[in-house]
Amino acid sequence: MGRQSTKVVELGEYRIPPGAHFFFSQYVMHRSDDYWDEPEAFRPERHTAEAKAERPRFVYFPFGGGRRQCIGEGFAWMEGVLSLATMAQKWRLEFVPRYPVVAQAKITLRPKFPMRMIPHLRG
Ligand code: HEM
Repeated sequence: MGRQSTKVVELGEYRIPPGAHFFFSQYVMHRSDDYWDEPEAFRPERHTAEAKAERPRFVYFPFGGGRRQCIGEGFAWMEGVLSLATMAQKWRLEFVPRYPVVAQAKITLRPKFPMRMIPHLRG
């Protein structure tokens, strides 16, 4: 994400002039081992209320923050949880490793190549 300053900004020891560009990356922050133990590991328990309270606010900010905070955040969470729960309660997905698994940073992070799955009906 990016911003451009409209006036002088004092940020810690830095004095940034008007017109400067700022870039901040969720990709970098969400994988920083300054804040995450084994950042690449899938550990949903990182997102409990207790775990959240222990880290600085903007270490995890998939939906941005402040004035331009994503207005779709509530919808995105609802859609994601509903879709996953609807599929996963009926189907188990078996990954077919046909292409390399490579993350691609677009507006959201997604797989660069198709990730084919064989669905198995749960018994
Ligand atoms: C997983 C899904 C989503 C992610 C990760 C996401 C992420 C973001 C982020 C990071 C921003 C802030 C951009 C910035 O500050 O420069 C943003 C803004 C925005 N998002 Fe989302 N978003 C998601 C889903 C949605 C959905 C479902 C909608 C609409 C239904 C939506 C509508 C918007 C709008 C309109 C803004 C601009 C808000 C503004 O500038 O005032 N987003 N989103």
